[in-house]
Amino acid sequence: MKKTILLLLLPYAVMAQNTSIKNIDFKADSVIKLMTLEEKIGQLNQLSIEFATGNKDGSAALNYYEESVRNGTVGSFLNTPNLDYKIKLQKIAMNESRMKIPIIFALDVIHGYKVIAPIPLAQSCSWDLKAIEKSERVAAEMASADGVHWTFAPMIDVTRDPRWGRVMEGSGEDTWLGSKIAVARVKGFQGDDLSKNNTILACAKHFAAYGAAEAGREYNTVEISERQLREVYLPPFKAAADAGIGSFMNSFNTISGIPSSGNKHLVKDILKTEWNFKGFVVSDWASISEMLNHGVAKDTMDVARLAMVNQTSDMDMEGMAYIKSLKKLVEQGKVPEANINDACKRILKAKFALGLFQDPFKYFDKKRKEASLKNPEYPLASRDLAKKSMVLLKNDNNILPLKKSIKSIALIGAFANSKKDRDYMSFWTFGAEQKNVINLYEGIKNKVNATTQIFVDTLCGKVDCQQNAIEKAVQTALKAEVVVLAVGENGERNGECRSRSEINLPGNQQALIRAVLKTGKPVVLVLFNGRPLTLKWENDNVPAILEAWQPGTEAGNALAEVLFGDYNPSGKLTMSFPYALGQIPVYYNQLPTGRPLVKPNEMWKSTFSDIPNEPLYPFGFGLSYTKFSYSDVALSASEININQTLEVSVTIKNIGKYDGEEIVQMYIRDLVAEVSRPVKELRGFEKIYLKAGESKKVTFKLTAEDLKYWNSDLVYKADLGDFKVFVGGSSVDVTEKVFSLK
Ligand code: GLC
Repeated sequence: MKKTILLLLLPYAVMAQNTSIKNIDFKADSVIKLMTLEEKIGQLNQLSIEFATGNKDGSAALNYYEESVRNGTVGSFLNTPNLDYKIKLQKIAMNESRMKIPIIFALDVIHGYKVIAPIPLAQSCSWDLKAIEKSERVAAEMASADGVHWTFAPMIDVTRDPRWGRVMEGSGEDTWLGSKIAVARVKGFQGDDLSKNNTILACAKHFAAYGAAEAGREYNTVEISERQLREVYLPPFKAAADAGIGSFMNSFNTISGIPSSGNKHLVKDILKTEWNFKGFVVSDWASISEMLNHGVAKDTMDVARLAMVNQTSDMDMEGMAYIKSLKKLVEQGKVPEANINDACKRILKAKFALGLFQDPFKYFDKKRKEASLKNPEYPLASRDLAKKSMVLLKNDNNILPLKKSIKSIALIGAFANSKKDRDYMSFWTFGAEQKNVINLYEGIKNKVNATTQIFVDTLCGKVDCQQNAIEKAVQTALKAEVVVLAVGENGERNGECRSRSEINLPGNQQALIRAVLKTGKPVVLVLFNGRPLTLKWENDNVPAILEAWQPGTEAGNALAEVLFGDYNPSGKLTMSFPYALGQIPVYYNQLPTGRPLVKPNEMWKSTFSDIPNEPLYPFGFGLSYTKFSYSDVALSASEININQTLEVSVTIKNIGKYDGEEIVQMYIRDLVAEVSRPVKELRGFEKIYLKAGESKKVTFKLTAEDLKYWNSDLVYKADLGDFKVFVGGSSVDVTEKVFSLK
């Protein structure tokens, strides 16, 4: 026995120490040659350590996990909450299993770890790719210090339906911006070298088109054309794959009736063959087994066969389909062992790339963990991104910014002074330290003069505050110079399995707003939410509205900087806010239709009879405390050929009295193509800082590459012909020019 162990250890020792062997392929192949079929299948099996998710199964479950590691029938865990237990499991793998293959530990680090960043949808409204990358870098620093090797992020589903609870996890409705943000997140997590201690494996999810679930209902059917799949939903995944992301995750949904976990066209043909993706694909939670419910397999054996024959899932997350059935399927000749070898190799390569074979304990560094929890840079990075993510939606009579010397201020509403978990964070907050969250009251208290009186209403501590509480809140409002109403929906109302059929302010928060408005006091509405809401009444009646989203650990400090003008809000919406629920789906890059509405209330045009076509707040919209004027939009030529570059320039001037940032946007429109093209498509942006009175010329570059689309033969190419280019501060506030591709 000893001899066998020694023989086994030899190849690792050689490979691990001998860094000259660059070829991880060779290393993985060498290990696979030593493995039994059961051990290879074990690497495809991932278990969730339940007590991280609440149901403490006690010792029975723990013995099961440890036995599985000992027997080599598990290769990965998710949701393992504490470092000591990870160390224990890894020691069993390294000292008691036959093959001594290191375990890879995963967790949903979706927007920060311990220090929670704003939700990804909020982050996307900053349009600040560097700040977003830095946020994931910080998350990777903190998570890797606590034994997380692999995060199930970024979620890069394009979303056009705010009824879906998971829009909070994505980057909104635009494919092109979503692709840029996906790359920034991959770079943040994986850095430039996965083998470093502070970089972690990322995971592009959910592949694919999960955001197109019918009616925004969670886990619902997706019925889209191949064109829409390729044009709208796949590009962010292709960008992540091209950026070197190490893993993908299947989505729960079907596309044209085929569940992603068994969708050969989507995973084997497009991802693994057409895109030549060499990483591995993990199922979503039991999504392989769920093919039974989808009705495309008759039993557990069949779901495992379907996924492995089609090579659509390399790792089975918590579904037990592979570990229960694959050995028998191979013995019955129903699944080629070569497919299992391929899946196993993809996973082993990731473990080699992370350096886990070289040092299985490299991420278990308690000193680094303690240091990371004290690093002041991390909360500051979160605060920076939080304030850049906030969007000023309305500011009549320039109520905002407030003065720090203000005599008194009333803070009213469920989010005024909450210490409840997820009120400022979202559904995905594993590892969050709720005690460290700075709430709105604390942030404002840190900001204003000591003489300022802050009246905090605590009776409306929840969204369903009763009439008597509302009357008390009115009394609080009457005492103050200005009222800040803190309302919204907390992390229990959005996130996974939190689709809503109504997307107004939940509870009777609107009744509270009405009552407080009646006092005649200046009112600032601060929204804490994880999705676009229907705010028509609020927009008609409240003079100032600030979208704060779910800002994370530094919520109060970031908000205080914005409310009191230390930071001039610069965020721009990446997802349209519908005018009404019935308008959904509404997004800026719609097709023109055969009867485009030109003027309001035209008859026999594509429109509603009772509401406008435009959303309440459009994509790319966001106000500032200052004003920016756009002028001198000019093209370097009126036409280009397929090898030339068109320069589109514009001058922006800060004509207000506050310094501030402006996100200058550039869109195109293909006027005549083989298929109908969107009325606008974002193809460039630049975030600039201008002092009051300062102006700057911004120049965008366009090439034929930017003009490509999936034509009538589903070939991705640009047509010769005429185009429009639009430049402005939102998708609706633009100046247009025309040019041709010759
Ligand atoms: C969930 C989510 C997925 C997450 C996984 C592990 O069901 O769909 O995004 O990464 O399970 O928690």
